[in-house]
Amino acid sequence: MNKLKLSDLEVAYRGKTVLRVDKAVFEHRKIYGIVGPSGSGKSTLLRAMTLLEQPAAGRMDVFGTVVDLSSLTHAKGLPLQRRIGYVPQKPTMFDSTVFDNVALGLRYRGTDRTAIRSLVTEALELVELGHTAKQRAHTLSGGEAQRIALARVLVYQPDLLFLDEPTANLDPYHIAIFERVLKAIQQTRDITILIVTHNLQQARRLTDECLFIHKGRIVENGSTEAFFTRPKSPELQDFLCGRMIY
Ligand SMILES: Nc1ncnc2c1ncn2[C@@H]1O[C@H](COP(=O)(O)OP(=O)(O)OP(=O)(O)O)[C@@H](O)[C@H]1O
Ligand SMILES: [Mg+2]
Repeated sequence: MNKLKLSDLEVAYRGKTVLRVDKAVFEHRKIYGIVGPSGSGKSTLLRAMTLLEQPAAGRMDVFGTVVDLSSLTHAKGLPLQRRIGYVPQKPTMFDSTVFDNVALGLRYRGTDRTAIRSLVTEALELVELGHTAKQRAHTLSGGEAQRIALARVLVYQPDLLFLDEPTANLDPYHIAIFERVLKAIQQTRDITILIVTHNLQQARRLTDECLFIHKGRIVENGSTEAFFTRPKSPELQDFLCGRMIY
């Protein structure tokens, strides 16, 4: 897959611009961390890139086509959207078994039953939860539910994986499992991963590159090592030290 490029993105609510990205490039098979204060526009960015949000302006060069995000119809967007795995900040489970929850995306795509069985089994094993297939989804622990939300999108083998604070409410043990799973995905799948996180240590451990979003702008981005050890902008320096007031 080619690089994913975003240009001239602008998202506004009731006339107020909350996100403006002149240019952002995401290279194939890398993990990107998106960090920044609450309300800075991180989730808005992921939603716009998942084609869930219709921005006022913006183009995305994805899967070999340039898409005008502001005029994209549902019919044109759907085939693209089906190649994007998006795990929202607050995923919801349907009141059925774990297997059914994970199979749902494939059923929408009309995949046959035998293929569904093997793809769901593979996705559950990838998130280390093969033993929960018959369990009711509502009875999963928070840490398990987050990994099932991940399995639910991995099952249809997306080219892009967008995760919005997937470990926000997890204990260190479940955070470690989640990170191990993501690393395994990066190594075994042909996929580019964007992860929004407030856990700076996690961004440092897990990602190849990081973006810092502040007041609806990408203020700084670069290799994770440079981002954390040699931040250039005063805003990122303040943010990393916990000095930022907002
Ligand atoms: N549907 C909406 N209608 C109006 N304003 C919105 C809407 N969605 C987001 N916003 C506003 O856009 C801004 C960015 O929100 P966003 O959810 O992207 O922040 P965030 O960086 O993900 O924050 P957090 O770290 O708290 O999740 C906020 O000021 C928010 O109130
Ligand atoms: Mg958010």
